[in-house]
Amino acid sequence: MSGSALYETFARAPLAFDRGEGSWLITEDGKRYLDFAGGIAVNSLGHSHPHLVAAITEQAAKLWHVSNLYEIPNQRRLGERLAAATFADKVFFTNSGAEALECAIKTARRYHFVNGNPERYRTITFEGAFHGRTLATIAAGGQQKYLEGFGPKVEGFDQVAFDDIDAAEKLIGPETAAILLEPVQGEGGIRQFPTASLKRVRELCDKHGLLLIFDEVQCGIGRTGKLFAHEWSGVTPDLMAIAKGIGGGFPMGACLSTDEAAVGMTAGVHGTTFGGNPLAMAVGNAVLDVVLEDGFLDEVNRKALVMKQGLAAIADEYPDVIEDIRGIGLMLGLKCKQLNSKVNGALREHELLAVPAGDNVIRLLPPLNVTDEDIRVGLERVRAGAASLSQHAPEAARKQSA
Ligand SMILES: Cc1ncc(COP(=O)(O)O)c(C=O)c1O
Repeated sequence: MSGSALYETFARAPLAFDRGEGSWLITEDGKRYLDFAGGIAVNSLGHSHPHLVAAITEQAAKLWHVSNLYEIPNQRRLGERLAAATFADKVFFTNSGAEALECAIKTARRYHFVNGNPERYRTITFEGAFHGRTLATIAAGGQQKYLEGFGPKVEGFDQVAFDDIDAAEKLIGPETAAILLEPVQGEGGIRQFPTASLKRVRELCDKHGLLLIFDEVQCGIGRTGKLFAHEWSGVTPDLMAIAKGIGGGFPMGACLSTDEAAVGMTAGVHGTTFGGNPLAMAVGNAVLDVVLEDGFLDEVNRKALVMKQGLAAIADEYPDVIEDIRGIGLMLGLKCKQLNSKVNGALREHELLAVPAGDNVIRLLPPLNVTDEDIRVGLERVRAGAASLSQHAPEAARKQSA
């Protein structure tokens, strides 16, 4: 909205929503959009999930914020639950993904510092990465369009091509502290690191005494059909940043660490005012209640298969619009033949919300508890959107989508 009091940093669609119900977003005048954007992979359980609403309402009536000057029992509990479910022993709560990454990068640097190697502070990252918009995380992401105009790039980040593990190995030197990657790149276009590459990266880290950091801000919390995407590979990191899905829409994140990697994070070396506050912790615990329920992730995988097969059929029908389907679980990408922004516009015309990504991809990120019926409707809308752009659309399909 030009002329508003807001920074003009976002290219917003001319759409505003009044409320959300499950997989649906509803405008003030009652128009219903199927939300497969999920606030960019945030609304892990859709909108207005009764268990989350109850948890935040109950907590809001009791206590919002006290700061980390005091014990926060629900913070301790959520930390213990995350540790019990993962490789981690220790957790630091943040308000966002970028802050979780900052904590992971600082933890890796401190690890080497307290082990007598203060010169080891550099982190190797991969092209296509997105780790956030703070000064350090734009340096880690390495994308020129996000770095330009913000002064000298923060020192200590070296980048290699996506999945080029040989190049990563060559870059390791006496100053290298860590290797950082998203097991499935989100903004980069739903690109998954092969299991063999993750294994090699782990071996390199072990061989050279580096810490392995996974960024599961987007691909974590059940999104790929496992609690964390790296579980598909059997490779575990030393540090992991999470956010988005753990809050289900409430802003929160966390840095997870092994005891060993967190050895330098002693009293006073790092902090946050808001991170881990009682409101956020009530929601985080409520999200885990649902995602850790027996059979929940099995259902994610079953639905993911239905969706992927449905999308593959549409790609076959409209190869001049959709080239390929990629992704894992409910983190799916349409590799577009036409401009992804155009395809996204066509989907929105058909009241389906999705998110463009790099590599000319459209991300589909439905709630993890999406219903079969909503998947059916979503596939219909993708088909209609594709038909409206296709040169080869059967007449019937074009009319239906008109
Ligand atoms: C993989 C990944 N890491 C980090 C971030 C940054 O998270 P935030 O925007 O909460 O700072 C994002 C956000 O899209 C992300 O997708």
